Amino acid sequence: MSTDDRADRAASFDQAAAVYQATRPGYPDEAVRWAVPADARDVLDLGAGTGKLTGRLVALGWHVVAVEPSDAMRAELGAAHPSVDVRPGTAERTGLPDASVDAVTIAQAWHWVDPAAAAAEIARVLRPGGQVAPIWNVRDEATDWVARWTEIVHRGDSLDTSYRDPVLGDAFTPTEHATFRWTQRLRTDQLRGLAASRSHLILLPPDERDALLDAVDELVATHPDLRGREWVDVPYRTECYRARLR
Ligand SMILES: C[S@@+](CC[C@H](N)C(=O)[O-])C[C@H]1O[C@@H](n2cnc3c(N)ncnc32)[C@H](O)[C@@H]1O
Repeated sequence: MSTDDRADRAASFDQAAAVYQATRPGYPDEAVRWAVPADARDVLDLGAGTGKLTGRLVALGWHVVAVEPSDAMRAELGAAHPSVDVRPGTAERTGLPDASVDAVTIAQAWHWVDPAAAAAEIARVLRPGGQVAPIWNVRDEATDWVARWTEIVHRGDSLDTSYRDPVLGDAFTPTEHATFRWTQRLRTDQLRGLAASRSHLILLPPDERDALLDAVDELVATHPDLRGREWVDVPYRTECYRARLR
């Protein structure tokens, strides 16, 4: 996949903000507390999207600035969390002053950024000793229907957006890692929307997208763990990394 294709994928969420907000998972509080130091005051949530993490940061008591490039995602965030300071920007260019925050979170978005440029920008906006935390939600494919759903939504997808130990560079201490297991309760008919919120599907030609979404509906109608059920618990692992500015 070319750099242009990757950039198109990174920008694709603008076309699917509502379904993203309706179906994507949030983040468990114990993961958020691990990612952000208790004594932090100002937190920057980068690539904040519709505010899935931003909302938890606010609820847990931090003063949050959310930076997000997509107009549509920012609109969802503003509607869900009207009191949050939401700004246009990217991980590579936040627009924040030097040394202005105690912690930076970037959930489900590090794979969309230029890591060297983003790490330099995060080092610039963090106060001395501040902490950065890249975070991912990963569906737990030990569950059979989850593995089958994943196989469907990855058909034809050549871009690897899986989580991995983020390379932050010499300005930061070595990364620490922790995993938090939890479940998200969704209606089974929302498994179609969860698929439709993914960048690979957002950019597919409509007939190819519909074929994958129909395959998701077929899975829901036939899999013994989904068939005839209104609700399902989607198993997730929240994979968290953190490092301090030296
Ligand atoms: C999968 S969503 C994650 C949103 C939110 N953090 C969450 O956990 O639900 C990825 C987000 O990264 C944003 N994004 C894409 N490129 C970015 C960049 N270079 N810097 C910051 N955010 C970016 C997209 O607009 C999108 O809102």
